[in-house]
Amino acid sequence: MSVDISVRNLSVIFGTPKQKEKALKLIDEGLSADEIKKKTGATVANKNVNFEINKNELFVIVGLSGSGKSTFIRTLNLLNKPTQGEILINGKDITKLSKEDLRNYRRKDVSMVFQHFGLFSHRTVLENVQYPLEIQGVEKAEMIEKAMESTKKVGLDGWEHYMPAELSGGMRQRVGLARALTNNPSLLLMDEPYSALDPLIRRDMQNELLSLEDEDEDRTIVFITHDMNEAFRMGDRIALMKDGEVVQIGTFNDFFKHPANDYVRDFIADVDRSRILKVRGIMRKVKNALEPTASIEDAKQFMEEKEIDSVYVTDEKNKLLGVVLKEDVEKTRNKTIKTLIKDNTYKPVLRNSYIKDVLKELKESDHDIPVIDQKGRLRGVLGYDDVIDALAE
Ligand SMILES: Nc1ncnc2c1ncn2[C@@H]1O[C@H](COP(=O)(O)OP(=O)(O)OP(=O)(O)O)[C@@H](O)[C@H]1O
Ligand SMILES: [Mg+2]
Repeated sequence: MSVDISVRNLSVIFGTPKQKEKALKLIDEGLSADEIKKKTGATVANKNVNFEINKNELFVIVGLSGSGKSTFIRTLNLLNKPTQGEILINGKDITKLSKEDLRNYRRKDVSMVFQHFGLFSHRTVLENVQYPLEIQGVEKAEMIEKAMESTKKVGLDGWEHYMPAELSGGMRQRVGLARALTNNPSLLLMDEPYSALDPLIRRDMQNELLSLEDEDEDRTIVFITHDMNEAFRMGDRIALMKDGEVVQIGTFNDFFKHPANDYVRDFIADVDRSRILKVRGIMRKVKNALEPTASIEDAKQFMEEKEIDSVYVTDEKNKLLGVVLKEDVEKTRNKTIKTLIKDNTYKPVLRNSYIKDVLKELKESDHDIPVIDQKGRLRGVLGYDDVIDALAE
């Protein structure tokens, strides 16, 4: 089960208890982290951070070195304790968990992938990957089976019995990801996982993560990077941090259409939008889908109310079955829309495609195109106008 996160008034300060107390007061008075450092000696690493992360979202936090990204992500599993504020995971404040509940939360619900892999050098690939299950006390056969499965997921089958030192950086990072996935966490935290990798390998790893995430609808991912291109390539929404504070949160479009201030403008100036823009970055939510069991009457009413002349049909797992056209609904004597479904009318595009690769199809189509994931589930819709709009200066 995936989770949503709500962070309220979070401040994380490093220093003595006295320094922290003084610093909190100065935060309330509106002083900057820099000023507070000068006055008290305390480091304000996160300052009044507020935001919501949705279920199943791939949420990216971006910012320069020292802006407080790692400090923030480490509070999500309480490796850092908030000096002030709340962190609600599915509505429950994790800063108030008992020791026992916190241990369970860390073992079962959340996993972390680190920039420098953090592997055990004296353990094989498989032994690294199985570690989270080992500390949960999972029985050996099941543990190995799950660890093998996870190793395979990241493309490392055949490498199970190698030692980390025998692997390349990219492969080690895959082991880190496999290990983070073995306990099937509902929240995956990734702190600059790809920053140490060569650009080409990095691109592969980004695409693989997107495709893993695409297949599996049930995980919330928080991903940190200092690279704006990576941020926009990966994120459903992005939060930009500076000096411990969040400067702006939003989608690709929010940032480029309505940059919050000059700092944001400068930060995004070098991003090549046409190259990084993905379907998922600008697609719209689907508001018009019915199940095949819907009655003709319902379908008619639905289309009239929404003033549309076709409607998507999805099964109970949200898999796209096709469309039903208004003209067919008006002619039919059937009871449900099931027999009217056309599966070749609106050819869908994959949500992780780059816009540049689907531009022609979009341009030639006079209606919105449905957007699906790798499992064929309907995730959104997109029209050529959306692209023009997103890329317009
Ligand atoms: N354990 C700690 N004790 C004292 N100060 C710390 C600690 N951890 C982080 N800081 C300070 O908090 C500030 C934010 O650091 P943080 O590591 O969160 O930044 P970051 O955005 O992750 O940077 P980078 O991109 O370099 O990883 C920095 O000034 C750092 O020196
Ligand atoms: Mg960091």
